[in-house]
Amino acid sequence: MIKFNINDIEVEVEPGCTVLEAARQYGIEIPTLCYHEAVAPSGACRLCMVELKDGDWSKLVASCIYPAAEGINVYTETERVQNVRNWIFQMLLAQCPASVEIKTLAKKYGVTSSRFSIENPDEECMVCGLCTRACEEIVGLSAISMVDRGVYKKVGAPFMQPTDVCVACGCCVTICPTGAMRSYIDSVRSVRSVTLTPLAL
Ligand code: SF4
Ligand code: SF4
Ligand code: FES
Repeated sequence: MIKFNINDIEVEVEPGCTVLEAARQYGIEIPTLCYHEAVAPSGACRLCMVELKDGDWSKLVASCIYPAAEGINVYTETERVQNVRNWIFQMLLAQCPASVEIKTLAKKYGVTSSRFSIENPDEECMVCGLCTRACEEIVGLSAISMVDRGVYKKVGAPFMQPTDVCVACGCCVTICPTGAMRSYIDSVRSVRSVTLTPLAL
């Protein structure tokens, strides 16, 4: 077992556990969007940042991909963590202004407006790739993937055309943290006669 501290509380977890998993085991709240325990973490949204401290040294890390290690000191609510979280929420509010899920989570952490400009008022997708990882890792299909690069990156089926690889299982809709997949799914599946019933994960 590995022993370390979160917010000065000693925790003990299995080797291979991440800092986020350890925090959740001990009921310590860290906000996340692109993380789901059913798929491998990617560290895409950076919302789960925590601070590692050792004397005068400190650094911010994404807790969903940072492995728990013997003796480290992790803090989830320092000024640095709260500042970076605030910036990330503001960026997400500007990137996905139509996402009720992001607005609700940001509000819970006291962020209700953004200093960044809005490019597309209808955008809900934060391009985190959780839906594509779910389709590949849970369903085993890869019916959708991330298409294009940089600011043009988006989720879609090959050639952005409906595909019969999609079995309309709804896994991507259920797992999407922003609600974006609810509207994307009809452009992905070619079999429209199947009623989409999102799976419980
Ligand atoms: S609904 Fe289609 S795209 Fe979504 S996870 Fe299922 S198979 Fe993949
Ligand atoms: S549709 Fe949802 S899960 Fe997929 S990339 Fe966009 S925000 Fe992430
Ligand atoms: S939840 Fe850790 S980076 Fe998104």
